[in-house]
Amino acid sequence: MKKDRLWQEWHPVLKETELHEDPKQVHILGERVVLFRNQKGVHAFKDLCIHRGAALSLGKVKNGNIVCPYHAWEYNDEGICVKIPALPCERAIPQKAKATVYHCQVYAGLIWVNLSEQPLPLLNYPEYSREGYRTAICGPYKVSANAPRVIENFLDISHLMFVHGGLLGDEDHAEVQNYDVTFVDGRFITSEIPIYQPNPDGRSVGGYTDYVYEILNPTTARFTKSVEGSSEEFIVLITVVQEADEQTKVFMLLTRNYDLDKPDEPFVEFQDLIFKQDLDVVESQKPELLPLDLQAEMHLKCDALTIAYRRWLDELGIETGTTPNYRKKREIVPS
Ligand code: FES
Ligand code: CO
Repeated sequence: MKKDRLWQEWHPVLKETELHEDPKQVHILGERVVLFRNQKGVHAFKDLCIHRGAALSLGKVKNGNIVCPYHAWEYNDEGICVKIPALPCERAIPQKAKATVYHCQVYAGLIWVNLSEQPLPLLNYPEYSREGYRTAICGPYKVSANAPRVIENFLDISHLMFVHGGLLGDEDHAEVQNYDVTFVDGRFITSEIPIYQPNPDGRSVGGYTDYVYEILNPTTARFTKSVEGSSEEFIVLITVVQEADEQTKVFMLLTRNYDLDKPDEPFVEFQDLIFKQDLDVVESQKPELLPLDLQAEMHLKCDALTIAYRRWLDELGIETGTTPNYRKKREIVPS
C-alpha cells in the first residue's frame, strides 16, 4: 500500500485545553488514534489494544498509564504493557504486548500527531509566542471535503468579494492586481495583495488591506493582513487534519497585535461566520480530489497562488485522498 507524503506531516488533532484526565479518540487519515495525558505530557497511540482490539480511548488513565476498558491491560507512556490482571503473577508479560506509539507534540495551543517513523519538521508559527501578540483558536470546524480543497479555498483570493461580500470584499472592487508567488525557506509566499474590505476583522473599519499569503505545508497556510501606515497586524493560520475520505477538521489561529486587552470572542465569532460562508461552496466542489493536472480546470492570473499550491502537491506526490484505495474508488464513480 502506497502512503503519500501526508503520512509524514504533523496533523493538528485537538486544542490542548480540551484534553483532560480522560483519554480522547481522534482520527487521522482513516486511522483511529487515542490521546492521553499524564505527568510527562501528552501521548498518542494507535487506538487499539493488542489483546482483543478494543479502543483504548474507552479506558482511563491510572498512575500515568492508559488502561484498556476490556480486560484492564495497562500500557505505560512508551506503549509497553506493564500489567495484565488475568495473568498469574509468576508469568512474565509477553514482550509482544505493546501499543503502537505515535509522535505527539503540543505547539501553538494545539496537539499535533505524526503517524510516520520519519516525521517532517513541525511548522513554525513564531507569532504565537511573540510578545505583544495574542492568539485565539477557532474551530474545529468539520468539512465534508478533502483537505486540499479546504486549503485551496483559504488561498483563493477572488472569492472574497462574492462569498464574503460586505465583509472581506466588495463586488464593485473585484479586480485582483497581479502579485508574485515565490518559494523561500521551504514555503510559498506572495507579495502584498491589496484588497478592498468593508470589514476585514470584524471591527467594521473598512478600506484597503494588504494580504501576504504563505503556504507552510500541504495542510497549513496563513496570511498576514496589514493596512498601510499602521503597525497593526492580523494573522490567520489555517491548519487541517484529514480525518477520513472527504472528512476534514479545521483549526484556525487568529493572531493580532492590537486590542490585546479586549476579549477574543468577537474575533472568533467573526471567523465562525466567515467559515460558514465558505462551507457550502467548498462542500459542493467536484471533483472531490483537487485536480493536479492544470489542464483540468481553468485558471486566471489571480489564481497564481492556488496554481502554485496545486503544482506543489503534484511535485510532492500528494495523492490528496486518505485511504490508499480512495483514488481508485473515486475513479470508478462517474461524476
Ligand atoms: Fe484490551 Fe483485552 S482487549 S485488555
Ligand atoms: Co472564504
